[in-house]
Amino acid sequence: MKRKISILGSTGSIGRQALEVIEKLNDKFEIIALTGGSNTELLNEQIKKFSPKYAYAANYKDITGAEYATLEEICSNKENDIILVAVSGRIGLKPTITAIKNGINIALANKETLVMAGDIVMPMAKEYGVKIIPVDSEHCAIHQCIKDIAQVDKLIITASGGPFLHKTIDEMKNATVDQALAHPRWNMGKKITVDSATLMNKGLEVIEAHHLFNMPYDKIEVVVHPQSIVHSAIEYVDGSVIAQLGLPSMHIPIQYAITYPDRFEGIKSKSFSFSQIARLDFEEPDWDKFKALKLAYDAGKTEGSATVCLNAANEEAVFAFLKGKIKLFDIINTVEAMMEKHDVVKNPSIEEIFCIDEEIRAKSRELFLKF
Ligand SMILES: NC(=O)c1ccc[n+]([C@@H]2O[C@H](COP(=O)([O-])OP(=O)(O)OC[C@H]3O[C@@H](n4cnc5c(N)ncnc54)[C@H](OP(=O)(O)O)[C@@H]3O)[C@@H](O)[C@H]2O)c1
Repeated sequence: MKRKISILGSTGSIGRQALEVIEKLNDKFEIIALTGGSNTELLNEQIKKFSPKYAYAANYKDITGAEYATLEEICSNKENDIILVAVSGRIGLKPTITAIKNGINIALANKETLVMAGDIVMPMAKEYGVKIIPVDSEHCAIHQCIKDIAQVDKLIITASGGPFLHKTIDEMKNATVDQALAHPRWNMGKKITVDSATLMNKGLEVIEAHHLFNMPYDKIEVVVHPQSIVHSAIEYVDGSVIAQLGLPSMHIPIQYAITYPDRFEGIKSKSFSFSQIARLDFEEPDWDKFKALKLAYDAGKTEGSATVCLNAANEEAVFAFLKGKIKLFDIINTVEAMMEKHDVVKNPSIEEIFCIDEEIRAKSRELFLKF
């Protein structure tokens, strides 16, 4: 039986790679829907090639070859066995909730969903018997390592360190957009690439891991590992450490998530060889240079709406940086300023989360004028 899948964000970095995986495993999948943002040209090419029943584009409706459906309609369609949520930013949250309420399993790339509303989404998934399978390579690694979460003492999340790992704070402060987008290991969408340059991405991943694996923040450690071969690890209570390794390719975690619990050769390009890897380095993150990581831990430990504030301020500031309106370090200054002023709401509802999100974005935009 073919697995029926919809891909939210099929025109993005994860979405395009997911389609490459599906192309290799074309007897295993039937595509129900594909969705894009503004790249309707690519979306229409994908529709021609993969023949989904439905399609959605955020900015235009001139879709050809598939019936137009909204994200909510796509995520309510119980024909789906699984939905890959690969849009970036806050857009992922509502469709994920809709899919959960319709009992549809989720392959989750959109980490912002759990950063904004992990305390609502994870219990809801449990209530509806829905599996949330992580796509992020670190969480996919941890998912593969864990047999019994009750026996796990610590999660160890690796970070490549991004393009500024060996740069000074001053070099990083004056970084151009092109320098921030020049990630040494991963070719990703712009928002996550900037997050990787500040290490905010790692901070968001720590919050994501906290929710996915129900692990307290003081049991989640980040280690810089520039080669991106060890994708993450866990330490069991008895001191045994289990790590997941592989060549740095998002095809592997995407395929794992959408075919789980089965495994296929699929898109694997070459076999892993220890002897071809010269060395594996690990180091403590530079907490002064990568203050975003500390801010994310602080927001996570504060709980309530603190992570909503962190996410909204960061996302808005990343967009402003990409448009050349603020400097790279102003992203962190914005997040810090917003977090300092934020009156934390305990256990916010989804409606409150979106209100707080809007409010923080508006305040962040006011702050940009002062930089
Ligand atoms: N890329 C990676 O390697 C990677 C790894 C781990 C986790 N993730 C996570 O996966 C998510 C996606 O990342 P990405 O790198 O694939 O991002 P991306 O390349 O920027 O792709 C984002 C997707 O969302 C669509 N989109 C944009 N605005 C939209 C809107 N208003 N409504 C509906 N769709 C919209 C885009 O469409 P258009 O392009 O047509 O505008 C595109 O299909 C992020 O949450 C990221 O943190 C990514």
